[in-house]
Amino acid sequence: MKTSAESPVGGGAAPSGEPARQRLSLRVNGVEKQLDVAPWTTLLDLLRESLDLTGTKKGCDHGQCGACTVLVEGKRINSCLTLAVMKDGCEVTTIEGLARGDALHPLQEAFIEQDAFQCGYCTPGQICSAVGLLAEGRARTEDDVRELMSGNLCRCGAYPNILAAIQQVRGRGDGQ
Ligand code: FES
Ligand code: FES
Repeated sequence: MKTSAESPVGGGAAPSGEPARQRLSLRVNGVEKQLDVAPWTTLLDLLRESLDLTGTKKGCDHGQCGACTVLVEGKRINSCLTLAVMKDGCEVTTIEGLARGDALHPLQEAFIEQDAFQCGYCTPGQICSAVGLLAEGRARTEDDVRELMSGNLCRCGAYPNILAAIQQVRGRGDGQ
């Protein structure tokens, strides 16, 4: 007599097997990437562990600190909350992709000029978030900037200088 183990019903992976990896195309910092990823891989882990783009930081890994902020199709997102497979075919920009050759992005320059970081751990997320903020065009006042940057936490408390850096670029209108 056959046992149920000898007569599997339906498809899917074998009990001991892993789900199939998924082929994914991304354009990261202007370069086409094709990757096979496990379906549960976050965009953050993909960037850091598969593409070696470690500028993007893992802080809380729960969407609460903003350290992992990157730009997808020009919009800021928390990459720790985003499955990589959800962004198949998208354009991703990380802190490593903001400079143009040797020329820093205006926000990177402003962060240096305004002394807007201490340990620097939150800085890549702050800068990517600020790029997204300026592209959104919703910040009309200093209070707006504070409010719209509130998802990016800085354990060093560099907020006044971060605000000054963003305001410096916002005033010139060249942050995108
Ligand atoms: S690591 Fe993503 S929000 Fe904290
Ligand atoms: S500069 Fe240290 S966490 Fe922001």
